Formats: sequence, structure tokens, C-alpha cells
Amino acid sequence: MQPLSGKIILLGVTGGIAAYKAPELARLLIRRGAEVHAVLTKHALEFVTPLTLQTLTRQPVHTELFQLVREQEIGHIALPERAHLLLIAPASADVIAKLAHGLADDLLTTMALATRAPVLLAPSMSDLMYDHPAVQANLEQVRRYGYRTVEPGVGALACGRVGPGRLPEPEEIVEEVEILLAPKDLEGERVVVTAGPTEEPLDPVRVLSNRSSGRMGYALAQVAVRRGAQVTLVSGPTELPAPRGVELRRVGTAEQMRDEVLAALNGTTILMMAAAVADFRPRTAAPRKLKKGAAQTWSVELERTPDILLDVAKRNEQQFLVGFAAETEELLENAWRKMQEKSLDLIVANDVTVPGAGFEVETNVVKLLDRDGKIESLPILDKEEVAERIWDKVAAMRRRREPG
Ligand code: PMT
Repeated sequence: MQPLSGKIILLGVTGGIAAYKAPELARLLIRRGAEVHAVLTKHALEFVTPLTLQTLTRQPVHTELFQLVREQEIGHIALPERAHLLLIAPASADVIAKLAHGLADDLLTTMALATRAPVLLAPSMSDLMYDHPAVQANLEQVRRYGYRTVEPGVGALACGRVGPGRLPEPEEIVEEVEILLAPKDLEGERVVVTAGPTEEPLDPVRVLSNRSSGRMGYALAQVAVRRGAQVTLVSGPTELPAPRGVELRRVGTAEQMRDEVLAALNGTTILMMAAAVADFRPRTAAPRKLKKGAAQTWSVELERTPDILLDVAKRNEQQFLVGFAAETEELLENAWRKMQEKSLDLIVANDVTVPGAGFEVETNVVKLLDRDGKIESLPILDKEEVAERIWDKVAAMRRRREPG
């Protein structure tokens, strides 16, 4: 299931140069499963055509108030009532002022008053307008009504100036929408997720590492935030940007990861170890780059790294522990063994030899093994979808634990 499946989103577009991003925003929302109905103000029509939005959304585009009257006759006035969200992007200074004062002189502002769905505004204008006390006061006023706002980006503006006022990228707005609409079944949970590889230095330029991209762990952190958890992400070296709303702590070695995990543990309710932590590290790291000289071979003595999950399990602080098992053979046997050894509540087993599973790729194929001996096999899914299913399982196990 896609994150926005079954959600009806009214997409209000107002007159501003950033309206050119509205079709892309609509496309992304639809790709994530939403049904999008675009509502354009008179000024928006100067920047974007209804035909573009109608083609992308496969829904009639609404532009004028009289349409609402006509729709009432054919029974569609319920749109603001049926909607799960009214998103206005871009939201001009003008529409923010109207919303702050409860004006309803066009279709969009009328719908804003008529709907009981959450309202999310993505302001976009010149930095001079954005900084004006009137605009700031109007934004404060709409926030008092319970409307949410997305912070505008800072950068080069259409007016030639540089400052705050840019419409955030459509992907960022979609992430805000998903945070707003996701079920909040992890509310109250404090989660530590680990992700990515660790790097164990041989000398200042060489490291011992593995092929983990961090995607699985980052998806778990992102989905947990959407579902209401407070999340600390302890990440080995990756190329990935920090997920929105996550406290990111970057580390290099297994030992640094262990230290960060232990430092974050106080108050943590769930530890999710998706990182591919090195099991061994060079016994010594040379202070200078090692010269190859005439050598044809090179032996390195390795020693064990700390086992982070085992260390946490031994402390017996009652965290709900989730481990991963990356295997190339005897998947279930190895996963059960790791589960016992590390006293886990749940283990996510991936056979990394299966196409589309494990390291680097966008997808994964996993089995969820719980402490009661149940096994759930998931098909090949996007890592974000895998993360959703893992959290579904964790949330269900946590609910069962609650008294009553
Ligand atoms: O990052 P991606 O490219 O998206 O790839 C995802 C993944 C393949 C890395 C992920 O799905 C995965 O399987 N992560 C765990 C990999 C691993 O190290 O498995 P393991 O079987 O060696 O370790 C078992 C568990 O103990 C893991 O939860 C691991 O984080 C933990 N561990 C391991 C070693 C160690 N020193 N300390 C640990 O806590």
C-alpha cells in the first residue's frame, strides 16, 4: 500500500511564479497514492493552465466559485468535506492574508472555511514580502487557527534577490503531507535507529568497510518520525540526506556507533539496529599511510569489534530490541540463533543473495521473525514499504504488551 492511498487532497494553487512547481507536486502526490483535486485562484491561471493539472490529476480542475454552486446541484459540494487535507502550494501573501481574516471571496478561500480537514500552507513570495510584519502576523494568526505551514526555502528568488521565500521542493512538501496524514501509532515511542556501514581504519587513507548504503535504516527512521516517534538516527558514512524531523548522529567506526547508541539509550523505548556493523577491525591503525614498497602480499591482524546489540541486551534496560540478519545461507537458522544470542524481540532476516534484496538496492526481501516464533515473509518491496511493514509489526507487538 502506498503512503497516501485513499487520501483525498485538495491542492490549492495561488498566483506566484512558484505555481510552476504545482503540477510536479500533484504528480508526486498521485504517485504516492493520493487522489488530488486542484483548485486554482484567478491569479494562478496566469502561471499554470488547468489543462496541465487536469491531465495529471485526472480530475476536473476547480477555478471559480460559481462552479461550486453548479456542483452543489450535482451533489459534489462535499469535496471540502470529503478531503483529508487542504494543501495550498504556493500560498501567496494575498491568500495568507485572506485566510487570516476569514475572507471567502473565491473558491479556494471558501473551501478553506468549509473544510474540517487539516490545512497545510507552503508560503512563497519575495523575501521582502515574507519578512513584512503584516505577513508574519497573518502567518501567526493562521497558525492559531491550527493551520500548519512549511518553512519556505532560502535561496535565489525569482525577483533576483537571495533570501527566504522559495517554495520548498515538491519532495519536501510531500514529506510534510505524509507526516501530517500518517497514523500516529508510534506516538510516545523514543526510537534509536542505526544505519549504514561502519569504517574501520587501516591507516589515514584506507578503511575496512562493507556495501551498506544506509537506505534501509534511513527509511526506518523516516517512517518512524511520520508515525509519531521521536527518532535518533545513528548513521555510519552514507551519501543520504538527513530525514526530516530526525536527530542525526554521524559516526565512523563500530566503537563510535556503540558509544552513540549507548549515549542515546536513556529513555529510549525501541532500538532498531539496521546498520551493517563491522565484526572485525584492524588491531592497530597506522598513523601514516602504509607504503606498499616491494610487498606482494599484506597481512592484517584483525580483532573483534564491540557487539552493540549484545551490549545493550546485557544492560537489560527493557528496550524493545530489533536486529537485522544479513545472510547468504541458512537464513532462518542463522536469524533464530542471532535472535536468541542477542535477546531480541524481533529480527528482520534478509538473504542478501536474492536479487532486489539487501545492500545498496532500493528494494528488500525480508522475513520478520518474532520472539513467539512467528514468521512473516514479505514480498519484494521498496525499502520504505519494508520499513512500514516492520513498524506495523513492532506497533502491533507493543500494543499486545500494553495492559488491558
Ligand atoms: O544499508 P542498505 O544498503 O539499505 O542495506 C540494508 C542492510 C542489508 C544493511 C540491512 O537490511 C541489514 O541486514 N542490516 C544488518 C546487517 C548486519 O550487520 O547483520 P549481522 O547479521 O552481521 O548482524 C546482526 C545484528 O547485530 C544486526 O542488527 C547488526 O546491526 C548487529 N550488530 C552486528 C555486529 C556488531 N558488532 N554489533 C551489532 O550490533
